[in-house]
Amino acid sequence: MLSDKDRIFTNIYGQNDWRLAGARARGDWDNTGGILAKGRDWIINEMKASGLRGRGGAGFPTGVKWSFMPKTSNGLPHYLVINGDESEPGTCKDREIIRHEPHKLVESALIASFAMGAHTAYIYIRGEFYNEAVHLQTAIDEAYDAGLIGKNACGSGWDFDFFIHRGAGAYICGEETALLESIEGKKGQPRLKPPFPAGMGLFGCPTTVNNTESIAVSATILRRGASWFSSLGTETSKGTKLMAVTGHVNHPCVVEEEMGVPMKEVIEKHGGGVRGGWDNLLAVIPGGASMPVLPAATCETVTMDFDSLRALRSGLGTGCMTVMDKSTDIVKAICRFSEFFKHESCGQCTPCREGTGWIMRVMQRLVDGRAEIEEIDSLDQLTKQIEGHTICAFGDAAAWPVQGLIRNFRPILEERIQQYKAAHGSGRVAQLS
Ligand code: NAI
Ligand code: SF4
Repeated sequence: MLSDKDRIFTNIYGQNDWRLAGARARGDWDNTGGILAKGRDWIINEMKASGLRGRGGAGFPTGVKWSFMPKTSNGLPHYLVINGDESEPGTCKDREIIRHEPHKLVESALIASFAMGAHTAYIYIRGEFYNEAVHLQTAIDEAYDAGLIGKNACGSGWDFDFFIHRGAGAYICGEETALLESIEGKKGQPRLKPPFPAGMGLFGCPTTVNNTESIAVSATILRRGASWFSSLGTETSKGTKLMAVTGHVNHPCVVEEEMGVPMKEVIEKHGGGVRGGWDNLLAVIPGGASMPVLPAATCETVTMDFDSLRALRSGLGTGCMTVMDKSTDIVKAICRFSEFFKHESCGQCTPCREGTGWIMRVMQRLVDGRAEIEEIDSLDQLTKQIEGHTICAFGDAAAWPVQGLIRNFRPILEERIQQYKAAHGSGRVAQLS
């Protein structure tokens, strides 16, 4: 278990003052000017050396992403955009940062923006996070008043402005390029990549989009040193990470843990254990709705890091797990996700627009068992026609939960079809549609 001295988020439960005085007492804004004085190259190299990988789900190396920004402006402004949309079902970690540790975010946004030559940062906050937006705006105002941001931020000679943009409830606006479109005042629809945002991002200018947690940890990493951060975790998943345990546990929570911690330890020690005991566990979705569901047997030994979960053909994702006990109708649970993805598809590309509806309709029949056995394979094939064939990762996100269900819980699907046939006769009940 992570020791308290290695925790970055020391006020994640809001037990202490989240405002400037409290944040300073915990070490935030300590010699920020000194970090800036070390220069852009030092900051970016230190972030690369730390091994921090993006905390929004994709795990792209943060320092490497920062290094993609052009070294000179060529007359174009640079932007940092922080993704605080946090719409992934089961995911609620960035909310805790914004409401209880807003100064970590403001300070880190200044440092990251300086390193990438950006005088302006935006944070896109999920619309439902009203109170969180109020906290963050208060922290931004405090930082302006104290001369920490604004003109000559922290006495560095660097001017820096920080703006909040509130979302309006569309899941797809969490996709980085749809988010940029939304800030520009357009309908939130993903753009084709490449070009990546570092080449052409907000208002056509060089932009880096980072998850809220990825930015919020950077000031602490730079203050304590890359070697401290990289000494924690595993070879390919360094440092600490906010994880969440939700669903059928006795004590749902958000907790900062070391990467590579056993999943069972997080559920038992932080989540208070599975409702009814570990033997009552049916399945865990390890990192948000798009990550394939894992059966109880694998949860016994798997660790919370990028490689271990990928080896099980799932993923760390946001690190926010949904625990399901044996009272769960797993088919219905995954069907609910299929309905969600159908609803949230932006409709730009055919495989996603048509495929999510198709998946949803088959899943709805599978909940009752109103299907043919061979439709399970047809459904699996359908998800593979969507995966990798769309403009953005949403298509993959819609496909993976269903693939996980078929891979890990196929006997339940077959049994349900057989039971339906036993009750209603054995004639063909439907075609794949
Ligand atoms: P991605 O793998 O396409 O990109 C990750 C990041 O790396 C992006 O910022 C991208 O611009 C950058 N990147 C990748 N290759 C690059 C290259 N060659 N050159 C320059 N930059 C490059 O994944 P994406 O679409 O950003 O995120 C998908 C993940 O998001 C999913 O796996 C899911 O876990 C997660 N997600 C999280 C949500 C949340 O609420 N936190 C909501 C929905 C999905
Ligand atoms: Fe829109 Fe879906 Fe295509 Fe993404 S994959 S651009 S959400 S239609």
